[in-house]
Formats: sequence, C-alpha cells, structure tokens
Amino acid sequence: MSVLITGGAGFIGSHTAVEFLNAGYDIVIVDNFCNSKPVVLDRIKAITGKNFKFYQLDLLDARALENVFEENKDIDSCIHFAGLKAVGESVFKPIEYYHNNLTGTLTLCQTMKKYGVKTMVFSSSATVYGVPESVPIKEDAKIGEATNPYGETKVMIERILRDIYKSDNEWNISVLRYFNPIGAHKSGLIGEDPKGIPNNLLPYVTQVASGKLPYLHVYGDDYDTHDGTGVRDYIHVVDLAQAHLKALESIKQRGGIDVFNIGTGTGYSVLDIVKAYEKATGKKINYKIEGRRPGDIGACFADPSKAAEILGWSAKYGILEMCRDADNWQKKNPDGYGE
Ligand code: NAD
Ligand code: UFG
Repeated sequence: MSVLITGGAGFIGSHTAVEFLNAGYDIVIVDNFCNSKPVVLDRIKAITGKNFKFYQLDLLDARALENVFEENKDIDSCIHFAGLKAVGESVFKPIEYYHNNLTGTLTLCQTMKKYGVKTMVFSSSATVYGVPESVPIKEDAKIGEATNPYGETKVMIERILRDIYKSDNEWNISVLRYFNPIGAHKSGLIGEDPKGIPNNLLPYVTQVASGKLPYLHVYGDDYDTHDGTGVRDYIHVVDLAQAHLKALESIKQRGGIDVFNIGTGTGYSVLDIVKAYEKATGKKINYKIEGRRPGDIGACFADPSKAAEILGWSAKYGILEMCRDADNWQKKNPDGYGE
C-alpha cells in the first residue's frame, strides 16, 4: 500500500516524506513546485536511501491527478499538504488563495472518492483559532474567526472535510492544526526555503545570524506576555512530520474524523527565541524593537494533550535543538535550495 503526499516537495511535506520512507512506507509525491524546487526530491532520496514515485502536477488538474490514481492502484491514503500559505500575500491575492486551496482540496477529494481512497490527514493551522479566547488552546476552542484569506481557507476546508465525512462515514479524516513549525532535518539537507526576505521569525533570525540581514525587527513589545513580545508554540518540523505517521496509523484503526493540536504546549516570546538561538549557536542576534505587525496576536500556544492521549504523540525536540537545526540548514544552504 502507498501513501499519496500532496505538496511533498515543500517544507513540511519533505520532512514527512522522509519519516514515512524511514518507517517503511511506499509513497507517491505530487507537487507543482509553485513554492518548492525539484532538488528537494534528490535530498529526500539522499537522506533515506530510498526511492519513490513523483508526479509534477497541479492539484487543480483533475485529469493529471486521476492518472496518478490509475497508475498507482495501491494508494490507500493521502497526506494533504499542497496549498498556498503566505498570510500577507493571501490578503492581496484572495482569489488565488481560495481557488488553489479550496478547489485543489475539492479536486483531490473528488478523485480520492472516485478511486475509493477515503483516508486523509490534512494540514490545518492554529490560525483557525483566530484571536484565542485563552491559552493554552484546546481543540474545542471556538474557530471560524480567521483574520486573513489564508486562514479562512483552513477554516473552510475543515468544514468541507466534516461535511464529506457526514455524507459518507467510510471516510477516515485526521485534521492536524499545526502551531509554528521551525527547524530542519539534522542532516541539513532539507529545510525551510522562503522566497525573498522571510516573513516568519525563525527564517529571519537564521539570516540575521548568517549576516545576510543586519538585524531582526521585533514586532511589538507591548503585548500582554511575560516580556511584552509575541509568544508562540514553536515545534520542530521533524516532530511535526512524525505526528503525521501517528495520525495516519491512528485514523486507519479508529476511523471517523478527528482534529488535533500539534504543538509542544510551551510558549516562547520573540526575545526568548533570540536568547535561545544565541545560546544554541553562539551567534549574536542583533534586534530592534518596533511597532506591532498588523494582524498579529499576543500569545498563541497549544494544549497538545489530546494528541498525546489518542495518537500517542508528543514533541521530543526542545527549543535549542530547533534553533541548532535551523542554523545548520542555513549554514549548509546559504541560498536555500538555490536556483
Ligand atoms: P510549502 O509551501 O513549503 O509546501 C507546500 C507545497 O505544496 C509546495 O511544495 C508547493 O509547491 C505545493 N503546492 C501548492 N499548491 C499546489 C497545487 N495546486 N498543486 C500541487 N502542488 C501545490 O508549505 P509548508 O510550510 O510545507 O506547509 C504545508 C502545509 O501546512 C500547507 O497546507 C500549509 O498551509 C500548512 N501549514 C503550514 C504552516 C507553516 O508555518 N509552515 C503552519 C500551519 C499550517
Ligand atoms: N516576528 C517578529 N519579527 C519578524 C517575524 C516575526 O518579531 O521578523 C514575531 C511576530 O510578531 C510573532 C512571532 O514573531 O509574534 C511569530 O511570527 P511568525 O510570522 O513566525 O508566525 P505567526 O505566528 O505570525 O504565523 C504562523 C504561520 C501562519 C499561521 C500562524 C498560525 O506563519 O501561517 O502561525 O498558525 F497562520
């Protein structure tokens, strides 16, 4: 049996592909490289010493997707990562975001149904909680107040998946709400490769550490947090990848539809991250305190106890390992995957 991985050339998908190959699964990756590079596939092979099938296709192309299922009759489940994910860009390109993320998911579900494949793990996000009423956040917290089109697509896809399950209880669906994935594979062969100047904290910090950027802009020190800077639940991407293995194995056994927070349960502020990075790497991170970034929230961290109880998963890596592995990736790949 094989697992279809959509968006498997991306940051989280590539790390998940490695974990599945190492666990002995056969996988088929599909990706259109709209936010990734073909060289990632060679790196996955180099890390695992294993081969897999790959199709360069757009999820919106139903014919091409059907061909994948035709040629791989042993696909029995899907891990669905493919989607556009830049929060800021989604505000300016809502049509592209809704079309890619919603239509892509609908096309995938339609094709899966046609081929009798009804088991899916879906990449959702803590962004569905919008401004959380309290922290740590549990899965039953209110959702549906996402503050941007990207977040809305996650809220909507979660609803679509629930309706699909309601219409046909043979579906097995695990929705994983990721908190803030960072870090990289220990080998330094795969990692996060943002386009241009990074928007997210860790990729920005790694580029300050390497001298590519002069200093970190700290967006706000007047939040209601221990030092006033924004607090998040950072999770090592390898821990996150392993959560997909557990989620798939569990949903196949238990059936139904379920949702899990995937975080460590510990919140770190921006300044905590600066200190942790300096401690982990011995490099100085220069920063300047600036005004708040529009749309940001003060504190967001998970209660991950449901994933521990039901999936038997919890994060193994701490913040120092996350920083060290991110730094190692940046050091070995100063220009990411290059051109
Ligand atoms: P990524 O951009 O690195 O990976 C997504 C991959 O999907 C890319 O390789 C891209 O080329 C591909 N893709 C996008 N649209 C496609 C389409 N129509 N057809 C085929 N391939 C397509 O992103 P990531 O960080 O690995 O995120 C993976 C998933 O996890 C996304 O759904 C994202 O929204 C979600 N997520 C990410 C984060 C985060 O901080 N990285 C947080 C929460 C949720
Ligand atoms: N920050 C800075 N300077 C920077 C970048 C970020 O101070 O240059 C701060 C932010 O203000 C925030 C924290 O660092 O307090 C984390 O910011 P990120 O941009 O790394 O992450 P966010 O929590 O804002 O967003 C992430 C993902 C989104 C997802 C959201 C909720 O990027 O896709 O988590 O899950 F929607």
